[in-house]
Amino acid sequence: MNFLTFVILVFIVAASTEGQSCQRYYIPKKFKFSVATAAFQIEGAAREDGKGPSMLDIFYHRVPGMVADNSSADISCDSYHKYKEDIQLLKYLGVTITHGDEPEGLIETGGWLNQDMPKYYGKYARLLFKTFGDRVKKWLTLNELLSVATFCYCGVTGQIGMALSTSWYEPASNSTEDIEAAKRAFDFSIGWLTDPMLKGDYPESMRTRIAERSLKDGYLKSRLPQFTEREKKKIKGSLDFIGVNFYSGMTIKNRVDFPYGMDQAEYDGAFEGAGGYGPQGLRKLINYLYNEYHVPIVITENGLGDGTGALNDTYRIDYLKNNIIPILQAIKDGSDVRSYTVWSLIDNFEWGSGYTVKFGLYHVDFKDPNRKRTPKASAAWYKKVIAQRYIEDC
Ligand SMILES: *[C@@H]1O[C@H](CO)[C@@H](O)[C@H](O)[C@H]1NC(C)=O
Ligand SMILES: *[C@@H]1O[C@H](CO)[C@@H](O)[C@H](O)[C@H]1NC(C)=O
Ligand SMILES: *[C@@H]1O[C@H](CO)[C@@H](O)[C@H](O)[C@H]1NC(C)=O
Repeated sequence: MNFLTFVILVFIVAASTEGQSCQRYYIPKKFKFSVATAAFQIEGAAREDGKGPSMLDIFYHRVPGMVADNSSADISCDSYHKYKEDIQLLKYLGVTITHGDEPEGLIETGGWLNQDMPKYYGKYARLLFKTFGDRVKKWLTLNELLSVATFCYCGVTGQIGMALSTSWYEPASNSTEDIEAAKRAFDFSIGWLTDPMLKGDYPESMRTRIAERSLKDGYLKSRLPQFTEREKKKIKGSLDFIGVNFYSGMTIKNRVDFPYGMDQAEYDGAFEGAGGYGPQGLRKLINYLYNEYHVPIVITENGLGDGTGALNDTYRIDYLKNNIIPILQAIKDGSDVRSYTVWSLIDNFEWGSGYTVKFGLYHVDFKDPNRKRTPKASAAWYKKVIAQRYIEDC
């Protein structure tokens, strides 16, 4: 769909409730809402029906102290057995069921240094396309160039995109140095994936900087691999859309001397400033991505984790509201955003945090052998927004 149509569909009216002045943001007709989970985090059934251990199964059992509450995902929400109930939860919310389980687990494995991985992944992808291709309209691959570059998607009717872990990097000041540092932070964390796939090469800042550093360190050429002309042609345009996982923004200050061995968050000379940068970062990020790459954007993850699992989760409602509104504003700014996905449908196994951090619209009682699901206030709120097709900022 043409993005202009989107723009026309979005308009804002001021409404008034109980003396309070509220902005009402209408949601474009074709804009879709969904919720996400990941197989590893909810399914459990770690050793049933002939399932072999996955890398993550082994990782979380072998390395003691990796998980805050020393838990594992062996049973988790038991969705392997309770999937019908979970589908009823989706039906209640009235959301679309998009992109199922493939990305999360594999992203975390680090197994991609193995040269055979693209081949295995290709096999896996073909199986998924064959099995679900008639129903799944959008596919997410991994945060991985090789996989996209090396296998062929022949016969897939859906669109293919990639879910990116993103952040918005706001310059800490209007100085050229900070503005460039923020751009560099983007390039080294997001652009290094999106630039090759949509423009055919690594970002300029990355090529220049890594080449300079490599020479300084006595290398004969840049440590950054160079694409051949053939590879550039092959990968350019390999994404139909960009998937955005967004949880926070940060402010970035330039750092002149970048000591090696610093935390990854220091983003190659850009400094992660104290304090976050609010949800308006999502609007800026969307607009930046759309202006830079001109492909549709889907918000593949956004949500709030808490330590309590409280049923009256008004703070989660505020968080979702504060993030959905900037998306609607970005659409109004002219960006083509197609959908929004809440992480997550149900409380689940949150990697190193185990069951101590809860993102669900539904509470799961992990002490109950039946893993009872209970809707939180946010579930009812999300259902309402989806049904009424507008959202208010008060
Ligand atoms: C988890 O296990 C580690 C190492 O065995 C132990 O030091 C820690 O106290 C445990 N934590 C909890 C919450 O049980
Ligand atoms: C940068 O300049 C703009 C426009 O003058 C201003 O609105 C903004 O607050 C400035 N940002 C910072 C971080 O100083
Ligand atoms: C939920 O919390 C809000 C804000 O603290 C409060 O106004 C509301 O009455 C609570 N609702 C329920 C059902 O407890």
